[in-house]
Amino acid sequence: MDTVTAHPQGHPRPWALLAELTHGCPLHCPYCSNPLQLTRRSRELTGEEWERVLRQAAELGVVHTHLSGGEPLLRRDLEVIVAAAASAGLYTQLVTSGVGLDEARLTALTGAGLHSVQLSVQHADPGASDRIAGHRSFAAKERAAALVREAGLPLGVNVVLHRDNLDALDPLIELAVAWGADRVELANTQFYGWALRNRAALLPTREQLARAREGVARWREKLGGRTELVWVLPDYFEGVAKPCMGGWGAVSLTVAPDGTVLPCPAAAALPGLDPPNVRDHALEWIWDHSAAFNRYRGEEWMAEPCRSCSHRAEDFGGCRCQAYALTGDAARTDPACALSPDHGLIRSLTGPAPAAEPPPPGYTYRGYGRG
Ligand code: SF4
Ligand code: FES
Repeated sequence: MDTVTAHPQGHPRPWALLAELTHGCPLHCPYCSNPLQLTRRSRELTGEEWERVLRQAAELGVVHTHLSGGEPLLRRDLEVIVAAAASAGLYTQLVTSGVGLDEARLTALTGAGLHSVQLSVQHADPGASDRIAGHRSFAAKERAAALVREAGLPLGVNVVLHRDNLDALDPLIELAVAWGADRVELANTQFYGWALRNRAALLPTREQLARAREGVARWREKLGGRTELVWVLPDYFEGVAKPCMGGWGAVSLTVAPDGTVLPCPAAAALPGLDPPNVRDHALEWIWDHSAAFNRYRGEEWMAEPCRSCSHRAEDFGGCRCQAYALTGDAARTDPACALSPDHGLIRSLTGPAPAAEPPPPGYTYRGYGRG
């Protein structure tokens, strides 16, 4: 990737920072990607601490920051954080549910230097979207999309795809286009963290995925590049491991609400990782020297079959968090890979469906303060 420059010690420099400003959130999505243990509001970094982190990130080489959560709009000092990111020279993208975004707030954020907004939506049908989110939020999303377009900011729409909305792919894309999205991210659910608890309810069928894949190809042709459609690989069904995060400690870093720095948002669950914190160390030291960031860098840590596999430089052995979630060992080959000795753990879930499949169970909704 040409935005990554070599470092004298051989580590590439990161270009993206995921700034998780808070774990607080009005939504209760069953596929929530935040860790099982959420950070209390009282332990969050202050605005001044975020200013320091964002400056250090820019010095480290970061050019793009996703201001995310939870719901970042819950931070009353979000404008201060946006201004700090912008004055450090970072491109700032707000990643939001849209709940809490009104005209005055957006004007203040734009004035502070906000560059773009990514809005989540759960379904094209308002009732279904609210049911999946566990919160009446569709109307707020619709209003937020209109405000973002009126403000002249680029709009991305993110949809986490699963059994309950894959068959609504056409209306979902129509909705995003009608809202004026420049980019639509169709992200098939990744099953770790909270989503793993809801796997039986969220896991789609092969037929659903095949139809959706055809639908994406059809829409790409129809839209002719006017709206970018991004299809995030449903790795459970492909037999190939995803190059998670572009490699461990390779292109991006995550700062959690309490200042913990992680190579990926889910890595807090890995035992013994002992992730560093911006309250104790500068980002540059964390990136270059911390044990957590060096743990799965390169290929030394790999076991067979990755160690001698010709794909290891393309997919880096897959996702460490998925390997841990399914096998209890983060250094094993990602079970999503058909070459993994653990691939049966996934194949048994994604093989041909039995003739009379039982209905999926209901969701276990995410709740802030409930783990
Ligand atoms: Fe990738 Fe490892 Fe599978 Fe090879 S064995 S394709 S390196 S995950
Ligand atoms: Fe952590 Fe893939 S989500 S390495």
